[in-house]
Amino acid sequence: MLIIQWLVHCALTFATTTFSHYIQSQPRPQIERPIRLEESELSKDSLFSLHQNLINIESISGNEQTVGEFLEAYLKSHNYTVERQYVDPLPTSLQDFRAEEPNQKQRFNLLAYPGENRQTPVLLSSHLDTVPPHYGHEIHEHDQIWGRGSVDAKAAVSCMIQTSQELLASRQISPNDVSLLFVVGEETGGDGMRRANDLQLKWETVIFGEPTELKLASGHKGILIFTVKAHGKAGHSGYPWLGQSANHLLVPALVALQKLEFPSSQKYGNSTLNIGRISGGVAANVIAEEARAEIGIRIAAGSPGIVKKLVSDAVKAVDENLDLDFSEGSYPPVYIDSDVDGFETTTVNYGTDIPNLNGKHKRYLYGPGSILVAHSDHEHLKASQLLIAVEGYKRLVRSALKS
Ligand SMILES: *[C@@H]1O[C@H](CO)[C@@H](O)[C@H](O)[C@H]1NC(C)=O
Ligand SMILES: *[C@@H]1O[C@H](CO)[C@@H](O)[C@H](O)[C@H]1NC(C)=O
Ligand SMILES: [Zn+2]
Repeated sequence: MLIIQWLVHCALTFATTTFSHYIQSQPRPQIERPIRLEESELSKDSLFSLHQNLINIESISGNEQTVGEFLEAYLKSHNYTVERQYVDPLPTSLQDFRAEEPNQKQRFNLLAYPGENRQTPVLLSSHLDTVPPHYGHEIHEHDQIWGRGSVDAKAAVSCMIQTSQELLASRQISPNDVSLLFVVGEETGGDGMRRANDLQLKWETVIFGEPTELKLASGHKGILIFTVKAHGKAGHSGYPWLGQSANHLLVPALVALQKLEFPSSQKYGNSTLNIGRISGGVAANVIAEEARAEIGIRIAAGSPGIVKKLVSDAVKAVDENLDLDFSEGSYPPVYIDSDVDGFETTTVNYGTDIPNLNGKHKRYLYGPGSILVAHSDHEHLKASQLLIAVEGYKRLVRSALKS
């Protein structure tokens, strides 16, 4: 706790000196402006300006090519060896309609290492994609950095690079100690990280970057995603007995699901159900032929299998003819290591790429900013969070290398 307070004090001092200098010297760029690569000098300015450049490049899942090219050039200019690992285009059903022709775009993960070895004891990893819609970098109230990805997860990406740079410059690590992996597709199910398993690499420790408000996460909830589909028969709404309404079949199933009790645990609290999207029918005067609801359950205990059975039984009890489609990639609550002194610990309710990366490595989850504003129209963090996070990542790396 004391260490954290001290860090906060240092960071705030930095933030008011370094960051105010940064604001004065860096007029807000236009998104179209060509991106200026950093000079090699190592300063907090390079952290803030990398963060700014990353935010200003739209990288909604499926459309990660430009940000990948930018970061590849950036890391190469800092003498990292950088490998591209190509990932398939995102399926149309997962693409956001606002991203322009993402199917034409290349998508790739980036593996970067400063030394000879592509396999290192410690890996720092986060994701390059964001949720829609994109909006650019802005500074509010002197030290609040706004923009899509400002928290999730371009903050972690920037801080991880800064961490590696500072540890190398101060010779606290050697070039073969740490590598970086930045993946695509985290927000749409983790196809990027699953592809990373083909790198055929092993690490002793992997540090994942997601917003944890600078706390060390000791676990996160599991997830089960599914669609309930109802099929009916269309007809004139004045003669309902001539058809069968898919909407009228779906609604009682949703009510039944809302009444279900799912497993809970001391560590994670209750499992929660979100009916995220409903669609069905075409007009008020037409009997609905098709209806569907897309649902996610955040699992606090037990396995996805147990939750699947509860869901199936409840839906089939309403009507045998309702269909259930369970998405791939469900998983139970995820244990995360949190055995490093000097951090507050927490559990989080969101999913991460942690279960998508195979291996017996130790895993940590840590990062600047709050999940409570991530994915929102007011995604932002305090500049000092970035500075504190760099200190936090450094401590995690040093601790991992010592053990
Ligand atoms: C990269 O390596 C070259 C050759 O060793 C060196 O001259 C240059 O200063 C290095 N650049 C950085 C950013 O470290
Ligand atoms: C979990 O659900 C129970 C029953 O619905 C409720 O009383 C309790 O407050 C919930 N716990 C949390 C942590 O939300
Ligand atoms: Zn994220």
